[in-house]
Amino acid sequence: MSFGDEYYTLKAKKLGIRARSYFKLEELDHKFKIIHDNNKILDLGAAPGSWIQYCRDKTKKKVSITSVDLKPIEPLNDFLFNHIVENINDISVNSLGRDYDVVLSDMAPNTSGIKGQDTYESYELVLKAFSICKNVLKDKGFFVAKYFQGEEFQELRNELKQFFNVLKQFKPKSSRKKSKEIFFIGIR
Ligand SMILES: C[S@@+](CC[C@H](N)C(=O)[O-])C[C@H]1O[C@@H](n2cnc3c(N)ncnc32)[C@H](O)[C@@H]1O
Repeated sequence: MSFGDEYYTLKAKKLGIRARSYFKLEELDHKFKIIHDNNKILDLGAAPGSWIQYCRDKTKKKVSITSVDLKPIEPLNDFLFNHIVENINDISVNSLGRDYDVVLSDMAPNTSGIKGQDTYESYELVLKAFSICKNVLKDKGFFVAKYFQGEEFQELRNELKQFFNVLKQFKPKSSRKKSKEIFFIGIR
């Protein structure tokens, strides 16, 4: 069944969810079985926090999350997480710890509308998330990264393929129809 773009925005508002992105991770998780109880999760580009809400809900709070974003995140009143306000390009990978079960990146550039620029910046953000992931992800761990499809698609795919045992791509129904975004899902 297909819903209009506003369906997910309204549903998020009604349920007290901070962004419609919640439903994208929910779809990804239903399809690829990514989030499990007692996982240690790194959430890159995490503000305003709806993916944290999803991981909390899915595991009934049995999850540990470190998040990073340029922006602060309002605390959740029933769940503690460790948020770092930092540009991903400036962060020291050692400060993030290691042995994550899942590395998520929903990072997105500020869209300029200039052809090629947004997709290139998105490519750079995926590469940055991937370089962190290579240092901190456990064997058999999951990497999920949003990418605005552009010229660099094949190059990026090839690079990810060399590292992961399994690499998939998926566009959730809850993504806006006209959006160029897809998600890469890598299993180490
Ligand atoms: C689509 S939002 C993420 C939504 C989030 N997954 C949620 O569920 O609430 C994209 C986020 O990427 C962050 N971002 C973009 N560039 C970044 C960078 N260089 N370093 C850290 N965060 C960045 C933005 O600040 C923004 O909050």
